[in-house]
Amino acid sequence: MKLIAINGSPRKNKNTATLIKHALDGASAAGAETELIHLYDLNFKGCVSCSACKTLDSKSYGKCAYKDELTPVLDKIKEADSLIIASPIYFSSASGETISFLERLIYPEVAYTKPFSAVNGFKKKCGLIFTMNLSSHEVLKASGAEMNIASIKGRTDLVWGDTEYLLSMNTYQFDDYSKVLYEYTSVEEKEESRLKQFPEDCKKAFELGKRLCQTNGKNK
Ligand SMILES: Cc1cc2nc3c(=O)[nH]c(=O)nc-3n(C[C@H](O)[C@H](O)[C@H](O)COP(=O)(O)O)c2cc1C
Repeated sequence: MKLIAINGSPRKNKNTATLIKHALDGASAAGAETELIHLYDLNFKGCVSCSACKTLDSKSYGKCAYKDELTPVLDKIKEADSLIIASPIYFSSASGETISFLERLIYPEVAYTKPFSAVNGFKKKCGLIFTMNLSSHEVLKASGAEMNIASIKGRTDLVWGDTEYLLSMNTYQFDDYSKVLYEYTSVEEKEESRLKQFPEDCKKAFELGKRLCQTNGKNK
């Protein structure tokens, strides 16, 4: 059993990465081998729309043909039983690098049938983690982030089967709030969320990682 986790934050030790760490601890507790990949360490592009993955009878059908530092990661993910994709919310969606990664990972797997179907039909246990400043489900909806998260989940559901997701809200973004202009919520509220909500989210991440590795998700 192998779980691969993708960090879509440029920061390797902040909110998103901390939740991933707890998820990996949960996966290890379930006996899985784990690997963490920081997207921002890699030099790669999003989909270049070459259409090789859509060309019938080509050796790249259902597979991304573009070669760069993401290529070995896409190959590893194919072999893994479970996958966690974690990202901060940027501009009400996943970070730019995460979206570029998803284009390369998921687009080749989607067939333009009506309705859309999965090209390869691999089942994989997949979990999504999003961290954000948004502090309630009402603002999540009003900002458009809810729809964007649902759209990402819709694609992972289609390609690998039902996806679990964890939202961590009102995260502590800045090391020192006295040095930045931040009036969206009070700093006291941020501090309270950091001390009370975030540790709860870390526990949920641990359980998520554990669940994703409890049964063999590979079912070709
Ligand atoms: C470029 C940028 C855009 C952001 N846009 C949003 C946003 O649209 N909605 C939101 O709730 N938070 C937004 N944030 C805040 C981050 O999502 C939040 O601080 C997140 O937890 C950071 O994750 P990290 O600590 O793992 O880097 C933004 C942060 C940055 C740097």
